[in-house]
Amino acid sequence: MERLQKILAQAGIASRRQAEVLIQEGKVQVNGQVVTELGTKVDPDSDHILVKGKLIQKEQKRTFIFYKPLYVISSMSDPQKRKVVPDFFRHIKERVYPVGRLDYDTEGLLLVTNDGELANHLLHPRFEVEKQYIATVKGIPDENSLEQLRKGVYLEDGLTAPAEVKMIQKKDEDAKIKLTIHEGRNRQVRRMCKAIGHPVMHLIRTRLANLTIKGLKRGEFRELTSQEVKSLKKLLSGERNRNRQK
Ligand code: URA
Repeated sequence: MERLQKILAQAGIASRRQAEVLIQEGKVQVNGQVVTELGTKVDPDSDHILVKGKLIQKEQKRTFIFYKPLYVISSMSDPQKRKVVPDFFRHIKERVYPVGRLDYDTEGLLLVTNDGELANHLLHPRFEVEKQYIATVKGIPDENSLEQLRKGVYLEDGLTAPAEVKMIQKKDEDAKIKLTIHEGRNRQVRRMCKAIGHPVMHLIRTRLANLTIKGLKRGEFRELTSQEVKSLKKLLSGERNRNRQK
């Protein structure tokens, strides 16, 4: 349930303030009744809302996979005027926002949506959504160090949960490792790699749950199909049930 003026604003009818005036002037009906009280809560999915006799359309839910380039802030605005996610979504009329964040100096997959329920589920630690990264690290970690990452390393905010870790490329002075983690702590991958003595020089997120950035170039995005949204939601509900049984 949401406040009526919020629903009207989200539907693009008016600003929140103008919506309040419309309500107070008796121009809004909910399920056939004129509503003039500002705090009235409605269910946008099931209530029938008319403004000046016209049915309001709920904002369509849209979800995108975005390939965030380096040096873009994962938020809606930046006081320092650096590039932010909405700069890439100007022609999308729905107010979509990034789910979680990638560091300014991390590139890769970021989900961008206006589906609040999906965003909450993806961010909630209980759902343990898998995130896969490829980190280029300084030096070449030996098997012992990789095993440490797998089992968990002590960071200042505690031991990290078990991770999948695979060496994918060794060069003279650096290496690429693939890490799959379920947690989402601040700068987690960077801190994990630093803890084993191999600081990250470059970091890219390549997968989130069952979604990958394959086929996208930096700065590009694509909308999820309804089938993809469905299977993502199904996967999330499966994670929850599995965790409840633990
Ligand atoms: N881990 C990091 O260190 N940085 C990110 O942006 C994401 C995960």
